[in-house]
Amino acid sequence: MDVSQDEFAIRVRDLVVGFGRQTVLDHLSLDVRRGEILGLVGASGGGKSVLMRTIIGLIPRQGGTIEVMGQPTGGHGRGAATTWGILFQQGALFSSLAVRQNVQFPLRENLVLSQELMDEIAIAKLEMVGLRAQDADKYPAELSGGMTKRVALARALALDPPILFLDEPTSGLDPIAAGDFDALITTLQKTLGLTVFMVTHDLASLTTVCDRVAALADGKIVAIGPMRELLQSEHPWVRAYFHGKRSQMLQHEMR
Ligand SMILES: Nc1ncnc2c1ncn2[C@@H]1O[C@H](COP(=O)(O)OP(=O)(O)OP(=O)(O)O)[C@@H](O)[C@H]1O
Ligand SMILES: [Mg+2]
Repeated sequence: MDVSQDEFAIRVRDLVVGFGRQTVLDHLSLDVRRGEILGLVGASGGGKSVLMRTIIGLIPRQGGTIEVMGQPTGGHGRGAATTWGILFQQGALFSSLAVRQNVQFPLRENLVLSQELMDEIAIAKLEMVGLRAQDADKYPAELSGGMTKRVALARALALDPPILFLDEPTSGLDPIAAGDFDALITTLQKTLGLTVFMVTHDLASLTTVCDRVAALADGKIVAIGPMRELLQSEHPWVRAYFHGKRSQMLQHEMR
């Protein structure tokens, strides 16, 4: 079978990751289908960011295998940057660089392009995420939280990667800005055919944006499926998460 036709964008098998005596991911397995938006939920400190960072090769693993687009990942391949874009949990724009240079950063790192072409690409990416050309000259300190997320998204999309990793993209945004960001992700996923792997606590995002949701508990994926299936899960942590007082209240309000 042609690897490019593989049904899965990401396949994780038996992944073990820890720090010192702490085991964070304990024989975790997970498949992300091509073209889907997969949401990941889990307790704070449970290992969601560690999982994402291990898949992209920023954290070494102690065991298991990871395949991205049909290719086993081992080291820090230089081609990696063109396979995925990442929006880290802590926004992480370079504060000393203007928006334009932030978006162009992956281009400079990976390609040799004329300044003119890089400027065109930066503007196109900014417009794609709903920002204006004049925002290109602003500095990170001059942006709102929602704009910062959009610039980080434009930068993640700079090299047209087929996979997008988002670590709590709507945290810290007001509900309207969060809803706008969700709509943007959905549109980008549809128009660009992206595979999106998204860590989120946002019940609205999980319900409206994600094709499937995976729950991480005790270092493993304990439930995975469409949101309506997760709501039926018998796993104690998953039940507590979706049926605890706080989320009941939110779900009630969402009706
Ligand atoms: N580089 C590191 N060195 C040592 N320990 C780490 C490192 N990165 C993460 N950890 C530990 O791994 C555990 C999981 O952290 P992680 O950031 O993945 O949690 P999380 O599920 O993303 O939580 P949150 O929802 O709060 O973002 C934590 O106990 C954390 O302290
Ligand atoms: Mg995290």
